[in-house]
Amino acid sequence: MNILVIGQGGREHTLVWKLAQSPLVENIYCAPGNAGIAEIAACLPLPLDNGFGELVAWAESARIGLTVVGPEAPLAAGIVNAFRAHGLKAFGPDKRAAQLEASKDFAKQLMVKNDIPTAAYRTYVDADEAIADIKARNGPVFVKANGLAAGKGVIPGRTVAEAIQAVKTILVDKAFGEAGDSVVIEDELIGEEASFTVLTDGHTCVPLVSSQDHKMSHDGDTGKNTGGMGAYSPAPVMTSELHDYVMARVVYPTIKGMADIGCPFTGVLYVGLMITEAGPRVLEFNCRFGDPEAQVLLPRLKSDLVPMLLACVDGTLNDYAEPEWHAGAAACVVMASGGYPDAYETGKAINGLAEAAAIEGITVFHAGTKHDNGQVLTDGGRVLGVTAVADGLASAIQQAYRGVAAINFADAHFRSDIGYRALARN
Ligand code: AMP
Ligand code: GLY
Repeated sequence: MNILVIGQGGREHTLVWKLAQSPLVENIYCAPGNAGIAEIAACLPLPLDNGFGELVAWAESARIGLTVVGPEAPLAAGIVNAFRAHGLKAFGPDKRAAQLEASKDFAKQLMVKNDIPTAAYRTYVDADEAIADIKARNGPVFVKANGLAAGKGVIPGRTVAEAIQAVKTILVDKAFGEAGDSVVIEDELIGEEASFTVLTDGHTCVPLVSSQDHKMSHDGDTGKNTGGMGAYSPAPVMTSELHDYVMARVVYPTIKGMADIGCPFTGVLYVGLMITEAGPRVLEFNCRFGDPEAQVLLPRLKSDLVPMLLACVDGTLNDYAEPEWHAGAAACVVMASGGYPDAYETGKAINGLAEAAAIEGITVFHAGTKHDNGQVLTDGGRVLGVTAVADGLASAIQQAYRGVAAINFADAHFRSDIGYRALARN
């Protein structure tokens, strides 16, 4: 079978890397890809932003048997609808179902309707009304742009002044463009975060192993919210008791709730959770694999990913046996361009990639990279995800940092404390 992966980040490099290991795969392509992906797949310079017509026509001519969509933006723009309309199999939710991630208000309404545990919230288009609510609550809140903002549209409002400023940034200054046409204001939740990922065909849900990412830019969870600075799996905070609770109280009610409103959800359901003293609460839904969570989940997966994804598309996940996992743990340290998530420079030469990859258990997944005359250059905010698989979490983290030490580029920034909560717990 020929496979096409859509996207160009670390998650997509990991997907291509895992899918390419399947004996079912003849040719693997990626649009648009990056320098790391180009080493294992044919990268296609096809546009993703014109209704997907060229992409679909190419996929038909190349006899693509399965298209796997990595990022949320093309899903929210209807890429799966475009492929399905031509009888092509595409993994991921359609445009309406992708609202679960693309509209925080949509997700919140679904949670309230289906009694899914989450923070109390209100949605506003009017800044004055939002500010009046903040003053009335007089407690710490989170202010969120309703739409897609690459993981950056969430601003803590721990004081009334901070929260009011956040409303102005989103609703008045339009820092996130149209994504900030409305804001969701919700109460702050206290606890430890975990990422819960399931594959679903719209009925059956197959949970993957637990993981946790590090959203803040700097050590000790300080700095700014980013797309994710590192991840590890398993996340010890996710006990089997909590796992069962999340499946029963969050995952199945979400999938059923989506079907009930005529939006059957297929693909990856990623649940971002806060494990509070009162139990797990949903922070957000994503409609795709986490990035960098995919970088620690997929290297631990022993089973062939291709039949699992096909079963989701074909509605036959119920017939699929449980996935098998490698024992042990995985850790990923993201190396980013200095300045990320704010302004940063690109085009810096990256050295040491081969030396890092030669270290036992290490795979270097590329996020923002490009080739230029035989040299790999930085080409994005998040540049690399240095991932290690080992017998235990402590050794996986240690190995990943050995890989990081072997790599250098100008102004590289990474966190030095990936996995610290898990290590403290263990
Ligand atoms: P989201 O994209 O909605 O998951 O938000 C990004 C990050 O902001 C989360 O991973 C949390 O670290 C934090 N966050 C969002 N909402 C809340 C909340 N209600 N209470 C505490 N932290 C939150
Ligand atoms: N790492 C968080 C996300 O993928 O949304």
